[in-house]
Amino acid sequence: METNLGSASFIGDHEEWFAAYAANRCAIEAARPSGDVGPMHLKTRHSMAVLNNARRMVDSERFSVVQGRICLLAALYHDVGRFEQYLRFHTFKDKESCNHGQLGLRILKQEKRLDGEDPAIRKAVLAAVILHNRFALPEGLPEDTAIAAHVVRDADKLDILQVMDEHLKGPKPYNPTVVLSLPDTAGMYSEAVIQAALEGRVAAYADLRSVNDFRLLLGTWFFDMHFDSSRRQFVEDGHALNLLQGLPDFPPYKAVRQGLLEKLGALRDAPSY
Ligand SMILES: [Fe+2]
Repeated sequence: METNLGSASFIGDHEEWFAAYAANRCAIEAARPSGDVGPMHLKTRHSMAVLNNARRMVDSERFSVVQGRICLLAALYHDVGRFEQYLRFHTFKDKESCNHGQLGLRILKQEKRLDGEDPAIRKAVLAAVILHNRFALPEGLPEDTAIAAHVVRDADKLDILQVMDEHLKGPKPYNPTVVLSLPDTAGMYSEAVIQAALEGRVAAYADLRSVNDFRLLLGTWFFDMHFDSSRRQFVEDGHALNLLQGLPDFPPYKAVRQGLLEKLGALRDAPSY
């Protein structure tokens, strides 16, 4: 028997549309003489991974049925603007092209993707898509929008952790784009990044000086996870632990690495209810 919960969390028609849309955009790029479709395929994979992470959160948080549906739709569509952005500008750097959250909103409206949804759902999904790549969320958001925006941002970070872990455990040299062109020099570090990690704060990209700083910054995202379920995923997926374990076993990283690993390890070993 189809329950309310079952039907509200079923977004298969949206997933089908998304797959067809992404394939169509990729085909346009592939047909170009110097087309490079690889980065677009990565965005298709990323979108599905973020949806998967969001589904795990929705399954364990006490959201309403409507809130769950908003979260899943926002996760699926959060990067829908990436395809058009790449076709038009051949980059994913918003600063050099356009805001991909805003472009995503325009595409969802043009394509009438959410016209069949309840207006409250439509409004919250569009808001979460446009907010997902803001540096910080504004205060005082309506509850449904805030929940969806937090779910998407956490789910997004969880997938970035996986991508970074897979890349940094592979053979060197690292891809400069993936490591933000940072040097992989053991003696180079940022006091500000280490200080943030010691104080239990999220480190800032602007302070990064080396690949090791970047590993540590990714570990500090733990302090930015908004839900119990995303904190749990953060630890259970193991990617953050791998990234931190890759830090040098000497000062100044040794103590901060140990401190963070203990914090995450304690959570992993705690009984889950
Ligand atoms: Fe995004």
